[in-house]
Amino acid sequence: MRHFLPNGKQLVIRTPGIRDAQHCLDCFLQLTQETDFLLYTYAEAKGFDLAAEEAFIASYMNHPNHLFLVADVEGEIAGSLTLNQNRFSKQQHMALLGVAVLHKYWNMGIGRRLLTAAIRWVEEHPVISVIHFEVLSTNERAIQLYRNFNFTEHGRIPQGIRQPDGSWADLVVMSKRIKPL
Ligand SMILES: CC(C)(COP(=O)(O)OP(=O)(O)OC[C@H]1O[C@@H](n2cnc3c(N)ncnc32)[C@H](O)[C@@H]1OP(=O)(O)O)[C@@H](O)C(=O)NCCC(=O)NCCS
Repeated sequence: MRHFLPNGKQLVIRTPGIRDAQHCLDCFLQLTQETDFLLYTYAEAKGFDLAAEEAFIASYMNHPNHLFLVADVEGEIAGSLTLNQNRFSKQQHMALLGVAVLHKYWNMGIGRRLLTAAIRWVEEHPVISVIHFEVLSTNERAIQLYRNFNFTEHGRIPQGIRQPDGSWADLVVMSKRIKPL
C-alpha cells in the first residue's frame, strides 16, 4: 500500500524480505533507545545480530498465521507491526499485536496505516478474529491510536512493568473483535 506522509515522502506498508534485515535491525535498535514503551530494553535488543534478524523475518515468511509489516519510507524502515497468533489451540482465534514507529516519524499517521493493514489481514484470515495486547497506562499516544480504532480497555495490571530506572507502570489490557467468532 502506497501513501504520502505530511512531509511529502512516500510511505509503503509491506511485508519485509530477508534483504530488509539490516534496515529492520537498525530500526529495532533505534526504537529501544528512543522509547521506554516497548518491552525490549536496548541492552536486550543488542543481543540481536543480522543472522537473528534474518531468522526472525524468515519465521514470519513461513507462517501464514503470523504477520510482520514494515513501514518503508523511501528505503528507510520507519516502523513495524507484528501480529502473532496465540500458541494454544484454545486461543487460536486471538493474535497478539506489537507496533512501533521511529520517534522522528510520530504523528504522521504511520501507526494508523500499519494498524489498518493489520486489521484488513485479520478480516481475511480464516481463524484469527481478535487482536489483543497490553499497553503502558502512561502511553497516551498509543492508547489514543487504539481508541481511534475502537479497541476496548478491559482493565489494568498494576505494576505490570518495572522500568530500568526502577520506576513502575501499570499495563492496560485492550482488545478488539475484528469479525464475528
Ligand atoms: C504509538 C505509536 C506506534 C503511534 O504511531 P504514530 O505513527 O505516531 O501514530 P499516528 O500518527 O497514526 O496516530 C497517533 C495518534 O496519537 C495522537 N497523539 C499524539 N500525541 C498525543 C498525546 N500526547 N496524547 C494523546 N494522543 C496523542 C495523535 O493526534 C494521533 O491521533 P489522531 O489521529 O486522532 O490525531 C508510536 O508513537 C510509537 O511507536 N511509540 C513508541 C512505541 C510504542 O509505544 N508502541 C506501542 C506499544 S503498545
